[in-house]
Amino acid sequence: MSASSVSPATASPSLPRKKTTTSTASEPDGGSRAHIKQYYEDSGLDYAYWSRAFNMHFGYFERGMSPFKLEAMLANMNRKVLEFLGLKRGSVLDLGCGAGATAKQLAAENAGLAITGVSLVGEQIGRARAACEKLPTAQQPRFVEADYTALPFGENQFDGAWNLESACHAPGRDKGALVREAFRVLKPGASWVVVDGFLKRQPRMRTSRWVLDKVQDYWALETFAERDAFLQALREAGFVDIEIVDWSWRVAPSAAYIPWVTVAFFVDWLRKEKARALGRHRLANALAPMLGLMLGLSRSFFGYYAIRARKPERR
Ligand SMILES: C[S@@+](CC[C@H](N)C(=O)[O-])C[C@H]1O[C@@H](n2cnc3c(N)ncnc32)[C@H](O)[C@@H]1O
Repeated sequence: MSASSVSPATASPSLPRKKTTTSTASEPDGGSRAHIKQYYEDSGLDYAYWSRAFNMHFGYFERGMSPFKLEAMLANMNRKVLEFLGLKRGSVLDLGCGAGATAKQLAAENAGLAITGVSLVGEQIGRARAACEKLPTAQQPRFVEADYTALPFGENQFDGAWNLESACHAPGRDKGALVREAFRVLKPGASWVVVDGFLKRQPRMRTSRWVLDKVQDYWALETFAERDAFLQALREAGFVDIEIVDWSWRVAPSAAYIPWVTVAFFVDWLRKEKARALGRHRLANALAPMLGLMLGLSRSFFGYYAIRARKPERR
């Protein structure tokens, strides 16, 4: 199923679309679905500089791990998401699944899980399927090209769901359309985990606002979620037992790799890759993490959180 063949999202309080600062007349609006698709189609392969397994998220560091092993921290994040969800078997949704790294790893490590990965980007779906080809057939996740605010699934279908660094792409500061859709497809009693960067409030200083605007533009986001607006949207949708944990320091050791990865990307491009044009989205993808690092250090208004919420049992 293609994203364009599903019905449009229910109305969400999204912000007015803004033209990106470096956009031309033919470029899609900042954070629109067209922008997101184009961004990942152009820059997707460059994620290999961050993770050989194409983990498109930060790593989770804990005692006993080496901070010098980035890939191990990235893989540990996948495990932590599932651990926080508290599910070992059953049907589970990976909303915004990227190139399938999380689904592949968790399917390989948990034979009882039936994972469905969803991405807006068809090319990622193709790569996710190819990455999982060697898993035993019964453990292979299925991957669906669709919009997570308008899922092609019925109500009450899944035992759990997560969004790992993908909820930020949903429209609006409260991500209401995504919240309502996750609630709709979960079975009563099932939980949803969202792991992402959140605004604690809008930044006050002009330089901070500039950095935030740039990061959002470069990463094809309309806006990061605002933590309190998101929590309110969860309650309004009907979620209960909402728990929020600050993982900002857990991801800090992996974030420290950003400058090295950025340098490696540009050096490689200069040495061997000049033939492949460094267009707007590839450049944005290379520069955004450096600015994202500044955002991550702005603890007064930004944090990295894991949030879990449960759909109540039927009464
Ligand atoms: C930063 S990547 C994270 C990918 C993956 N969760 C991971 O950690 O490796 C964000 C993902 O969200 C997906 N995404 C963004 N907006 C979406 C939407 N409306 N519906 C489905 N997927 C979406 C993108 O296609 C991309 O796969």
